[in-house]
Amino acid sequence: MSEADILLKVTGLHVRYGAATAVRGVDMHVRRGELVAVIGNNGAGKTSILRGISGLVRPSAGQVTFNGVETVSFAAHQKVRLGLAMIPEGRLIFADQTVEDNLILGAYIRWSRERPRIRTEFDEIFDLFPRLKERFHQRAGSLSGGEQQMLAIARGLLSRPALLMIDELSLGLAPKIVDQLMGLLRDLNAKGQTILLVEQLASHALAIAQRAYVVNHGHIELEGTSAELSGSPKVMETFLGKKRNVV
Ligand SMILES: Nc1ncnc2c1ncn2[C@@H]1O[C@H](COP(=O)(O)OP(=O)(O)OP(=O)(O)O)[C@@H](O)[C@H]1O
Ligand SMILES: [Mg+2]
Repeated sequence: MSEADILLKVTGLHVRYGAATAVRGVDMHVRRGELVAVIGNNGAGKTSILRGISGLVRPSAGQVTFNGVETVSFAAHQKVRLGLAMIPEGRLIFADQTVEDNLILGAYIRWSRERPRIRTEFDEIFDLFPRLKERFHQRAGSLSGGEQQMLAIARGLLSRPALLMIDELSLGLAPKIVDQLMGLLRDLNAKGQTILLVEQLASHALAIAQRAYVVNHGHIELEGTSAELSGSPKVMETFLGKKRNVV
């Protein structure tokens, strides 16, 4: 594996909240063009790993090398400019703004210079998510959960990220919608989008990812190709036989 192929390299990552350590020495990488999944149970540290990578939390130790640049001390907005987009757990769209305004906010780092081009990219977004076209002038808060997740993904894509990170694609969504969105991520990846997907629904994530990391108690317990992990008795026992906790 050549170093140039690696888009994201995380080494010895630690994330702490006060006295509590949520991530303890995580090493992982994502190659250009890959779809990589991070799976693990409630409280395993998945979100904290993404926060550490995206700069929403300053890691207490470790390195986050993105596109060859060491970014561990960068603020989240600086990382967005480098091409790192994160769709947070719970989506965090602006409920009182329209779909259009939410999309414009996704493109804000490019808006002043590339406005006409972004308008044409809205058409590409509408091809991916026809629902968003129908709902363009509607308040985002009035959308269904699945439509809000589509909006969150669309907003992430409009920053033209080299790496799209998604925290819990399936959260609170009906199985049919989850399948639809998973298929969409697979298609985006097939077109070249590099994706890091955090997901509690392990079998769904392994079905679309090429590789995955299994997180437990703040460290990587297992890693491998999706085929290897799907066949691992340990993964089967820990995740795949287990139903998601109903919130
Ligand atoms: N802001 C915070 N302050 C203090 N502790 C936190 C905070 N956020 C998370 N934690 C703790 O860090 C640990 C890891 O949490 P994290 O949210 O990263 O796990 P997760 O794998 O994303 O879980 P889930 O599947 O529930 O989303 C947990 O013990 C959690 O209670
Ligand atoms: Mg989480």
